[in-house]
Amino acid sequence: MKEKIDVFDYSVKFTKDVMKGFLLTTKANGKVNSMVIGWGTIGIQWGKPICIVYVRTSRYTHKLLEENPEFTVNIPIDRLGEDVFRICGSLSGKDMDKIKEANLTLVEGECVSVPAIKEAPITLECKVIYKQTQVVEDYAEDIRKKYYCNGEGKAEGQQAVHTAFYGEIVNAYMIK
Ligand SMILES: Cc1cc2nc3c(=O)[nH]c(=O)nc-3n(C[C@H](O)[C@H](O)[C@H](O)COP(=O)(O)O)c2cc1C
Repeated sequence: MKEKIDVFDYSVKFTKDVMKGFLLTTKANGKVNSMVIGWGTIGIQWGKPICIVYVRTSRYTHKLLEENPEFTVNIPIDRLGEDVFRICGSLSGKDMDKIKEANLTLVEGECVSVPAIKEAPITLECKVIYKQTQVVEDYAEDIRKKYYCNGEGKAEGQQAVHTAFYGEIVNAYMIK
C-alpha cells in the first residue's frame, strides 16, 4: 500500500540523512538498477518541486538516465541495510543484477516507468526536466583536487565529473 506524502514535510530528513545513503533507481530497456547516492538537493525551480541528483558520467546509472530520463529516489526510514549499501554503493549494474543480488523488492511506479523499493519506502517519483554536466575548470580548486583527481598521481579531471539531473517530483509516497 502507498500513502501519499507532501514531499516538503520530508525536506529536513532528506537534507540531514542523504549523506547516510539513499537509493537512486533507474530503468531502461527492461533493466532496473539502484545505486547509492550521498548527495542530493530538493527545492523549487520553475515553480515546480525539484529533486536534483548528482551522477558521475562514468556510472551505469548515468547511461540508464540518458536512455530513460525518469528516476525514483528511495529513502530508508533509518539506514539502508548493510548488504544493500555495499552492493548498490560499490558494484555496477553494468556487470550484474544488483536488485536481485541485494534482495530488493520492486513496487511498480505510479507516474513514472521506474519502480520504487519496498526496503527504502519513502519514495520520490521524478521526471528529468533539465540536466547539466559540470565542467572541470569551473570547480573551485579544492573541490577539483578532492573529487576529480584520485590523489594518487592522476591528473586533475581524470575522475569523471558529475551530471546534475533535475527531476521534477511528480509523485511522492510512503510504501506501507
Ligand atoms: C555513501 C555513498 C554515496 C554515494 N553517492 C554518490 C553520488 O551522489 N553520485 C555518484 O555518482 N555516485 C555516488 N556513489 C557511488 C555509487 O553508488 C557507486 O559507484 C555505484 O556502484 C554506481 O552504480 P552503477 O554503476 O550501477 O550506477 C556513492 C557511494 C556511496 C557508498
